[in-house]
Amino acid sequence: MVVRNQQVHLPLLTEKGVSLYLKREDLLHPHISGNKYRKLKYNLIEAQKGAFSTILTFGGAFSNHIAATAYAGKEYGFRTVGIIRGEELAGKWEHNPTLLMANANGMQFKFVSRANYRQRENIGFLKELENEFGNCYLLPEGGANAQAIKGCREILTPGDDGFDIISCAVGTGGTIAGIIDSSHTSQYILGFPALKGDFLKEDICKFVLKTNWELQTDYHFGGYAKVDSKLINFINDFKQLTGIPLDPIYTGKHLYGILDLVEKDYFSPNTRILAIHTGGLQGIVGMNIILKMKNLPLLDL
Ligand SMILES: Cc1ncc(COP(=O)(O)O)c(C=O)c1O
Repeated sequence: MVVRNQQVHLPLLTEKGVSLYLKREDLLHPHISGNKYRKLKYNLIEAQKGAFSTILTFGGAFSNHIAATAYAGKEYGFRTVGIIRGEELAGKWEHNPTLLMANANGMQFKFVSRANYRQRENIGFLKELENEFGNCYLLPEGGANAQAIKGCREILTPGDDGFDIISCAVGTGGTIAGIIDSSHTSQYILGFPALKGDFLKEDICKFVLKTNWELQTDYHFGGYAKVDSKLINFINDFKQLTGIPLDPIYTGKHLYGILDLVEKDYFSPNTRILAIHTGGLQGIVGMNIILKMKNLPLLDL
C-alpha cells in the first residue's frame, strides 16, 4: 500500500534551502497505524498459514504494538494475549487508555514483573507461557522479527528514489532495518533512537548488510517515554504550523532531531529529506495523563 508524501513548509526549511517531506504512514489504517501495519502484515499471514488461533506478544503499558496487535486480532479473527511489563498494573489497567482499548478489542493480559519480562526471549519462560495459553504464534516485543522487517521493506516505493535522506524513529531497529534494505545505496538513512544507549547499532547490524546509515543518538530526551516541556511545546507548535500530529515517544523526537540538524547546517542546501511518520498517535491520551500528574504542558489533541 502506498501512502502520500506530504511536504512540510516551515520558514527554517526555506531559509536553509532544504526540502522535507513526511511519508504519512500514520494514515495507513485508523487503528493499525504506521510501522505497526507494516510489521504485522507478514506475521498475520504466517500465523494464518500455520493455522494458529492465538497470537501472543509483549509490551509496556502504553505500547503502540500492543494496541495494534489487539486490533489486528479482532479484525483477522485471532485470540490475542498481551504479556505486559509491570505487575503493579494488574489491578489498575482500566485507567490506562492503551490497555483499555486493547482489552475492548479482545486482548487478554498477563501482567509480569520487570524481572520476568526480561525473560521474554528465554525458552523456559516461553514454554511456561505456552503451557498457560496453549499453542500460540509468538510475536516478539515491538513485533520485531524477520517478517516485520520484510513488511518494513515496503515503506519505500519507487516514487521515493529522488530523496537523498530517509529518516525514521528507532525503537527495536526493525523498521529502520527494512528501510535500509530497500533503499538505494546513493540514499542515506538516518535513525533517531527513542531510547538511550548505543546497543541498537549492533542490533541493526545483525539485520542489514548495507552501510548507508547511521543513528543520531542525541534526541532521546532522557530515555524511552521520557519527555520535557521543550518536546511537548515542539510537538504542539509543529501541529499548529503544519497540521501534522506527532506522538511524544517516537515521531516527536524524530522530527525534533531532523529540524535541529537542519538548524545546525548538517544538511547541505538542496538536500531532499523524506521523514517516515511511523504513527503512534494512540499514545497521546495516555501521555497526557502522565503530563498532568507532572504538571507539564499537555499535548494538543
Ligand atoms: C510509532 C513508532 N515509531 C517508531 C517505532 C520504532 O520502530 P522499531 O521498533 O521497529 O525500531 C515504534 C516502535 O515500534 C513506534 O511505535
